[in-house]
This record gives sequence, C-alpha cells and structure tokens, in this order.
Amino acid sequence: MSLVEGTVLVVDLGAQYAQLIARRVREAHCYSEIVQHGITADEVKAKAPAAIILSGGPKSVYEDHSPRIDPGIYELGIPMLGICYGAQLMAQDLGGTVTATGRGEYGRTTLSLAGTSTMFDAWGAQSTVWMSHGDSITEAPAGAVSLATTPEAPVAAYADDVARRYGVQFHPEVVHTERGQELIAHFLHELAGIAPTWTNSSIIEAEVAKIQAQVGTERVLCALSGGVDSAVAAALVYKAIGQQLVCVFVDTGLMRANEGDQIEEVFRDQFHVELIHVKAADRFFDALEGVTDPERKRKIIGELFIRIFEETARDIASHEGAPRFLVQGTLYPDVIESGSGHAATIKSTHNVGGLPEDLDFDLCEPLRTLFKDEVRAVGEELGLSESLVWRQPFPGPGLAVRIVGEVTRERAEILRNADAVVIEEIKKAGLYRELWQSFAVLPAVRTVGVMGDGRTYAYPIVIRAVTSDDAMTADWARLPYDLIETIANRLINEVDGVNRVALDVTSKPPGTIEWE
Ligand code: XMP
Repeated sequence: MSLVEGTVLVVDLGAQYAQLIARRVREAHCYSEIVQHGITADEVKAKAPAAIILSGGPKSVYEDHSPRIDPGIYELGIPMLGICYGAQLMAQDLGGTVTATGRGEYGRTTLSLAGTSTMFDAWGAQSTVWMSHGDSITEAPAGAVSLATTPEAPVAAYADDVARRYGVQFHPEVVHTERGQELIAHFLHELAGIAPTWTNSSIIEAEVAKIQAQVGTERVLCALSGGVDSAVAAALVYKAIGQQLVCVFVDTGLMRANEGDQIEEVFRDQFHVELIHVKAADRFFDALEGVTDPERKRKIIGELFIRIFEETARDIASHEGAPRFLVQGTLYPDVIESGSGHAATIKSTHNVGGLPEDLDFDLCEPLRTLFKDEVRAVGEELGLSESLVWRQPFPGPGLAVRIVGEVTRERAEILRNADAVVIEEIKKAGLYRELWQSFAVLPAVRTVGVMGDGRTYAYPIVIRAVTSDDAMTADWARLPYDLIETIANRLINEVDGVNRVALDVTSKPPGTIEWE
C-alpha cells in the first residue's frame, strides 16, 4: 500500500475527548483537525481527509438529541475509526445493534481478543483498556466482525477491512489503555495508510512558508510577554522574515526575576532581532500608588500597558514605517473553543495585558494550528532555551495579582525575590514541569517573629503550587515536606522583609489559582 498524506478529521461528539484524540493523532505524526458533529458530507469531502475518527461522548445513542453525523459521510470511502460513543453510533448507523444493558463499565478492564485481526495484529490475547460506557454494542455493523470482548462489552472492538471502518468501545487515547497510542498509530499508518510526516521540522517549514506568503515584504510587530507562546511565535516569524520583524517587550516592573534579561539575551543576542525593551516600571508603580482593589489594579495595568504599546508602535511607525502585521500567539485550543461556542477560554476571561481588538493591524497567528506541547517542541527546535520553552503560565498583570493590597516597588521586590527562591527550589526538586504553576504570594499583613536576639515584624510569604490541565480547575500540589522546609528556610533567611511562610492548600474551585 502506498502511503498518503492528509488531514485526519476528529469529529467531536460532545465530550472532552476530541482534543486528546487530536493530540494523540499528532503524536503519531499525522496532522489532525477537530470538527463539530454537524459537519456535512459535502464539507468533509471538500476537506478531503485521509481518515476520520469519531470521538466518544457522554450521551446514549438512544437519547433524544444525542449527537449524530451526516450518513453521507459513510459513503465517502474514507477510513474511519469510532471510539466509544463514536463506535456505538457507527454500529447503530450501519446495521449493528447497541443495547442499553444496564451494566456499564467505568475504568480499567481486561480486553480479550477473539483471534488474529488486522487491527490487533501484534497484541497478546489480553490487554488492559480503559472504559467508560453505559450502553454496549451487542452486534457489530453489517460487514464487520467482532474482534474482542470485555466482561461487560460483548463487542468491545469490530473491524470491516473492506470498507476500512473500525470501532473500539474502549478509549485508546487515554494513558490507562496499555497499548492505546499504538492502536491509534496502527490505525493511521497501517489501516488508513497515512504517512507519518507531521514532525516538528515539517511544522516549522509549513509555518514559515505560510508566514512568508502572508506578510510578503511588510513589516511585522510582535509584543513579547516573557511567556512561551509569544516567544515561539516571534522566533517562527523571525525565521520566516528576519529583519522585517520588530519586537516590543514592555517591562512593567511586575515581571518574574530576570525575565527582561532573558528576553534580551534570546532575541537580541542570540537571534539578533530588533527588540525594543520599554522599561516602564516607574509608570506602573506611579499609576498603582494607593490602589488596593484587585479589579482596579488589573484595569490600571491593562490600560497602561495598551497605552505604552500604542506609543511604542507609533514611535516605530514614525521612524521606520508602520508595521502592517501584529503577531499573536493564539493556540489551537483557543480556536476550537471560540469556534464551537464552548466555555469561555482562559485568555478571553483574563485578557488583561492583552491587546485591544481595534488596533489597526492585520493579525499573523503562526501557532493557530498547534497545541501547547507542539508549541514547546517547535520552540526547542528553533533553538529557544529549555527554561523559556517550559515556563509556567504567568498572568498578564504579573506579580500585581499576587501582591495583596498596595503594589509598591518595595513589595514587588520582596515578592520577586521570594518567587525566585520558590521557582529555584521547585526546579531543583525536578517538579517544575509537573506543576501547572508554582509561585510565591505576598499578603497584606505583617506578623511578629523572632530572629537572633531581635523581634521582627515582617511579611509572611504564601507558597502556592497547583496541578492542573487547563487552569479551569486545579488541585493544590502535595509538595514533599522536605522541599517545603527548604523553601521556607531560604525565604526567611535570604529574602529581606519576610519572617514567616505559609502553604496554600486550596483547590480551584472554590479558590482561584491567583490570589487576586
Ligand atoms: P485563576 O486565578 O482565575 O487563574 O484561577 C487561572 C489562570 O489564568 C491566569 N490568570 C491570568 N492571566 N491575565 C492573564 O493573562 C490575568 O489577568 C490573569 N489572571 C489569572 C492564572 O495565572 C492561571 O494560570
């Protein structure tokens, strides 16, 4: 069989699984796109995908308004894999039977294979898989054979090798399914015949070509935030158009330790990008004087940031000609969520520090098709340092949302020093990548302590560390006691103005990750 190139469409049948499946497909080096289940057969045909995967979903095929697909899609002759609800829907649509047995399966279970098959060709007789289903497929679709069972699923997998349609009741995209990723890769490469050509270097090549075609000889402006997305976007654009790019970094005085230096080091010294480093800390501290209300702080910072960015852009325009394009680090999950009307994204609910929509630029969004892990991999491939590429998320208003009460130069300095200690120790313990965020918080109280012979009256520092997948929910991280002790000792001994340390053990909900 000669291999083809092309997109794999992941049809979202209503749960959180579609994104995970799309990522797994890409890990198998095939480009994937998520589409909603309302897509018509003509629309699918126009996209000419190399394969289609139907996702799982929370509904039963017997419920009113359960998600369906256009039956014309089955007629297109495109290889298909149905997962969980997707497998049930395909079975029901194509002459099989789905039964509400009243005996579902949730969690790990053992899959027993009926014999040899193209789908499980290298598997042993049994394997651990992860299930989440109420209904069960009791009869494979017409033309398909049943390949496997579990205690509660009479047809846990089926295949029609002629029509190249496959179904699995279990979830191959989750890590608890032992050979799940292997199954997805096998479907894509062997059964659907798709070449594994989606790699970091092919992503870079394709994005560079797209950027060149979009911007031509125009100038492009990019606001660097210190974070991963804007840095990788800038590095990609620089690779595409070199000196046509000008970057702006506004230092608000509320950044993490060394953030500005690192940006200079990478973009000015390593890449030789034209970089305008606006040192605006004084303006921010002046504007924040006496302000304690969290929402007002955010508003002041957001508005001032925009004003400074606009001033800088005007300045660039008057000296070098106006840039026509503005780089934005929009990622694929933002695109999918805004496209499908799902829950508001983190970015849109927290757009302080973002740029207003009425700026007079065309947008250049080179990360629009990428997931976060791909952005990181691309960043590393482009030569960005590990410490930049693996940075934890940082809020637009910076340290201000971690300083309860008034934000002053002195208090920002205490927090920045404390934060540097927390980060350094978390990294030393090898936990930095595992944690969604880990940082220090400065409350607005002071407490009494004793150091040496003297009485102290100084600030406590709160250690905040959370695990999360997307910041919508989070759990407080169970840091090892020894690590907490090391951090606490260092904070009290090394950071002037600190005499006590506390640990935040609040999950989200009910708490938020940040303190303000
Ligand atoms: P919360 O505190 O609401 O934060 O649990 C969720 C995620 O959003 C980040 N965050 C912000 N990001 N501007 C941003 O760009 C903001 O104003 C802002 N506030 C919170 C926070 O760090 C966490 O990752």
